Amino acid sequence: MKHIAIIPGDGIGVDVTREAVKVLEQVQQVYDFKLEMTHFDWNADKYLSTGITLPVGAMDMFRNEYDAIFVGAYGDPRVPDMKHAADILLGLRFGLDLYINLRPIKPLHDSLIPLKGRTSKDINFTVFRENTEGMYVNIGGCFKKGTPDEVAIQEDMNTRKGVERIIVAAFEYAKDNGRNRVTMTDKSNVLRYGHDLWQRTFAEVATRYPSIETNTQFVDALTMWMVLNPDQYQVIVTNNMFGDVITDLGATLQGGLGMAASGNIHPGKVSLFEPVHGSAPKYAGKNIANPLGAILTAAMMLDYVGYKEVAKGIEKSVIKALNLGEMTQDLGGKLSTTEMGDRVCKYLS
Ligand code: NAD
Ligand code: IPM
Ligand code: MN
Repeated sequence: MKHIAIIPGDGIGVDVTREAVKVLEQVQQVYDFKLEMTHFDWNADKYLSTGITLPVGAMDMFRNEYDAIFVGAYGDPRVPDMKHAADILLGLRFGLDLYINLRPIKPLHDSLIPLKGRTSKDINFTVFRENTEGMYVNIGGCFKKGTPDEVAIQEDMNTRKGVERIIVAAFEYAKDNGRNRVTMTDKSNVLRYGHDLWQRTFAEVATRYPSIETNTQFVDALTMWMVLNPDQYQVIVTNNMFGDVITDLGATLQGGLGMAASGNIHPGKVSLFEPVHGSAPKYAGKNIANPLGAILTAAMMLDYVGYKEVAKGIEKSVIKALNLGEMTQDLGGKLSTTEMGDRVCKYLS
């Protein structure tokens, strides 16, 4: 039996996780299998009332006893420095060495695509975002903080090992999934140390995959091409920060942040799955957030732990609901968060 941790987090993370869990309960009935789900209440409330973020021992507990972790979202206006999210979300990404942030860009209904004249045939690619280094390592500091002479330094760390393993993961994915092009995006025209390393490593790894076409694009140009000519992409590999930015744009191509799923993965090890969106505080607790990104994330998690057919079944149910025009407000529909979750459950059975 697979052991899954459920961490709703903050804001709409709570609303959408409730629906993802509902779907996870329903698939166990429909497909006749059992998951062991354990819930954790680590969020801004808990941090503000107890000071606890990620409890001591949690990392080892996940490493030793769990197959996957589902996270809703983090972010609370009362914690402007995101201390709890840094410890919990980034803490787990780094601590469990989840070096692949896998973010598929795949609209599930043509009506969701905001681009003129485009259909879902034109947009179907996967972003491999490096997830354990780059500008996220929190190396740096302030000097003379709060004075007119303040200096702030935030380092961008790129290691040969880190860059190579995410590029290899992108090529392996392409090879295993019948994709014949990998695009690497960087800013090597300006970042002559860190992103030159990406250029050299990409060129070298590419020679190991002679049947896969490759190209590189500067990230500023890539954001233009993602809008104008998204059909050129099959697999995009990039650093942590650019991956964060371009996948919000990617989510928009799929209908919005409420639709996008992601996995934080170390192949063969306990991995963490979360929708791409954040805690959207203005929608929190109002039963209006779109739970489909979270539900599709749950499907991605089931695929990862071995229930591939179940994952496909969830995606089909989502597509069925969308085909019937059953959507939440962000997509132009009328359904509440809970009603949307209920529809997906209904079409599963
Ligand atoms: P956000 O993703 O929370 O929301 C941006 C906007 O996107 C929302 O105002 C809303 O209009 C729309 N949106 C997002 N998810 C939606 C959903 N499920 N249904 C309907 N509409 C949805 O980004 P933000 O406003 O920049 O950040 C809010 C907080 O979330 C911040 O604290 C931020 O740091 C955090 N954040 C967390 C994660 C995460 O936990 N993985 C990701 C992004 C942002
Ligand atoms: C994401 C989020 C996170 C990130 C934040 C909440 C730390 O934006 O998962 O895309 O920047 O990686
Ligand atoms: Mn983001």
